[in-house]
Amino acid sequence: MAARPPQSTAMPHTDRSLRPVKLSPEWAPASWRARPPAQMPVYPDAVELAAALSELHALPPLVTSWEILALKQRLAEAQEGRRFLLQGGDCAESFGECSSEVISNRLKVLLQMSLVLVHGLRLPVVRVGRFAGQYAKPRSADTETIDGVTLPSYRGDIINGAAFTPEARTPDPRRMIKAHARSAMTMNFVRALIDGGFADLHHPEYWDLGWVRHSPLADEYQRMVAGIGDAVRFMETLSGSEVYNLNRVDFYTSHEALLLPYEEAQTRQVPRQWGWFNLSTHLPWIGMRTAALDGAHVEYFRGIRNPIAVKVGPSVATDQLLRLVDLLNPDDEPGRLTFIHRMGAASVAAKLPPLLDAVRREGRRVLWVCDPMHGNTESVASGYKTRRFSNIRSELEQAFELHAAAGTRLGGVHLELTGEDVTECLGGARQLTEADLARAYRSTVDPRLNYEQALEIAMLIVRKQSQLNAPA
Ligand code: PEP
Ligand code: CO
Repeated sequence: MAARPPQSTAMPHTDRSLRPVKLSPEWAPASWRARPPAQMPVYPDAVELAAALSELHALPPLVTSWEILALKQRLAEAQEGRRFLLQGGDCAESFGECSSEVISNRLKVLLQMSLVLVHGLRLPVVRVGRFAGQYAKPRSADTETIDGVTLPSYRGDIINGAAFTPEARTPDPRRMIKAHARSAMTMNFVRALIDGGFADLHHPEYWDLGWVRHSPLADEYQRMVAGIGDAVRFMETLSGSEVYNLNRVDFYTSHEALLLPYEEAQTRQVPRQWGWFNLSTHLPWIGMRTAALDGAHVEYFRGIRNPIAVKVGPSVATDQLLRLVDLLNPDDEPGRLTFIHRMGAASVAAKLPPLLDAVRREGRRVLWVCDPMHGNTESVASGYKTRRFSNIRSELEQAFELHAAAGTRLGGVHLELTGEDVTECLGGARQLTEADLARAYRSTVDPRLNYEQALEIAMLIVRKQSQLNAPA
């Protein structure tokens, strides 16, 4: 292992006394175990757990350190306003939906959205899937009671099963091995599709999803694709050869690194690099419920070299946010830290500006990303958990304006979406109503944007950004 390079000389902040940060110099992949564990399952059989973890330790990683460092470089460029981050996928993947169709349809939506963004923002887009490992879910209660029977809550397929039976709900460590395998299959298929030319800009028609041919958005999208096709042909005519680097795009993976024993088992040292990498994903993030300063998750994350993200909800105070910056990126390393704010349409105007101001005043480098989904979840009378497109849109538009007013930059978006024809969020181009929810509600956790709604979000990002860029 190479030696750690000298520390950078980032300016210490002015009021450090307000935020005493006890940084233990000692860190190890397992040092989180000494901290309060939030959202962690209780495995009934310690021997089985140890056996599963030792198997996981020996299995090959899912990503490489050089991909991780390449993504960090791209995120650093996004921090400087030279790229835009598109991060999206299911709320939670399920073992049952690790199928060719689900994976390729999700990839198609993300590719189409990125095409809209590249074309409209005139910026390269960093594409990060919320997949190939997004199997663990934080829950508001440890148990669930139905008809007088109390069982552990469903925490995602990596931990237990969704069915309300004692067998399904008992945490099973073998599920970690299965999650690792499913993640590997997902990544393998995505890599093969991309290497095989699926993402080739010469053939954006590969990304069309059959059921959207009659979409109200189809015309606008098709016009844009035709425009790009013309531009590609023009460039090729001009240069007299095919433009090869349009044949492929880079795709990265991310998930909420919630289940720390799993993450620890995939945390490795690699030849010719200093430090430790989480090799189960490129961009792990800390969820809103597990971002306590003295908690196990912050302890684990501070020691890995991956770029990392933290979800920031309306209860986070500026002081806490700055302490997170201190703990997670003490050297102010470019590309290291992303904050994903998820305030809700009704709170974002009050809650976001003080955070933006504090980080800007301290001169610290972060990438600001908006998740307009998780602060806008509600239950309707029929019992469905849903989100209104109008609220999602409103939070996103407000976020662009608030950043512009604060002198900061919204550098990306984080979305829950699927390429399937689901009816989980209300509104959008087809004006889905409460009566539509029953038709195709498939999520076992949060409601996702369907293809049309996702594409509409990409188009409105472009519209909002050009409105802000236009001279007053
Ligand atoms: C999620 O991203 O699915 C999630 C649970 O988000 P948050 O931590 O922001 O609530
Ligand atoms: Co979710």
